[in-house]
Amino acid sequence: MPARVVGEIQSFADLSILPGESAPERVLENCNGFDALICTLMNKVTADFIDRLPPSIRLVATYSVGIDHIDLRALQARRIALVNTPDVLTEATADIAWLLLLGAARRASEAEALLRSGMWTGWEPNQLVGTDIHGSTLGILGFGRIGRAVARRAAGFGMNILTSVRSSSAGDPPPPGTIICSSMEEVLAGSDFLSLHLPLTEETQNWLNAERIASMKSGAIVINTARGGLIDETALIAALQSGKLGGAGLDVFVGEPDIRRDLVEAPNTFLLPHLGSATRRAREGMGLSLARDIAAFFAGRPVENGVGVSK
Ligand code: GLV
Ligand code: GLV
Repeated sequence: MPARVVGEIQSFADLSILPGESAPERVLENCNGFDALICTLMNKVTADFIDRLPPSIRLVATYSVGIDHIDLRALQARRIALVNTPDVLTEATADIAWLLLLGAARRASEAEALLRSGMWTGWEPNQLVGTDIHGSTLGILGFGRIGRAVARRAAGFGMNILTSVRSSSAGDPPPPGTIICSSMEEVLAGSDFLSLHLPLTEETQNWLNAERIASMKSGAIVINTARGGLIDETALIAALQSGKLGGAGLDVFVGEPDIRRDLVEAPNTFLLPHLGSATRRAREGMGLSLARDIAAFFAGRPVENGVGVSK
């Protein structure tokens, strides 16, 4: 954790830090008598793991906004509370969605590889020609905090914005000119770029499947900063290989960090290793937000970011 976060938590609690990749067994052996557990999205907090937590644990604090790595029902059954870190990472993650959009549209990976290889022969009219961003249509699925922040940036790039009302949380109104479609399918069919901002749940698992990809515009570009599991990667790879999709910009993958070789080798991709919230301010903000909520919880005050608890 960032040093400032460690210092903050140590100002009110005894803190024991295990390496992030610690096996569940090692965590269970080491949390006897502890009141709270901080995890990251790399730690699978399964029902079995939760059942075996010592009774002293009353709070799980996840260093993430996503909670798909946590069995919420099992936590609730044990009456263990959960806090996460929304808001502080919204803008940083929206920026990464734009990096992916720009990078995939303008073939940044391929171009940089050419330059670094020493094989660049100089400016040519047909060299590494990409997709226009201005004047094209960006579909945003999941119009919560991050989806809206992506939409705000789209106005500056001269794009049209489509979204559907599904999963829109309270927040800023959509930017002027946003077209609200009546279904996610309608967004799919109308988008030149599609950016995913849905939570991963049983309902959204493999949401972007072969059938839905088939309904997209030919040459469309898919952007994902949410969770890899939203996309059926086999269908995505086939669509990139056939040219049905014009490209993909991905920050998240199924089975991270073991990424499918055929995805890495698929054409027209711009791939990043789950960096959405990786700025100094966001990562520190996430930790400080957890620290505040842990302190509040044990002082008997309301937490800011309780999951499954209304504010
Ligand atoms: C990152 O993916 C997060 O959920 O914070
Ligand atoms: C490109 O550098 C141009 O001058 O068109």
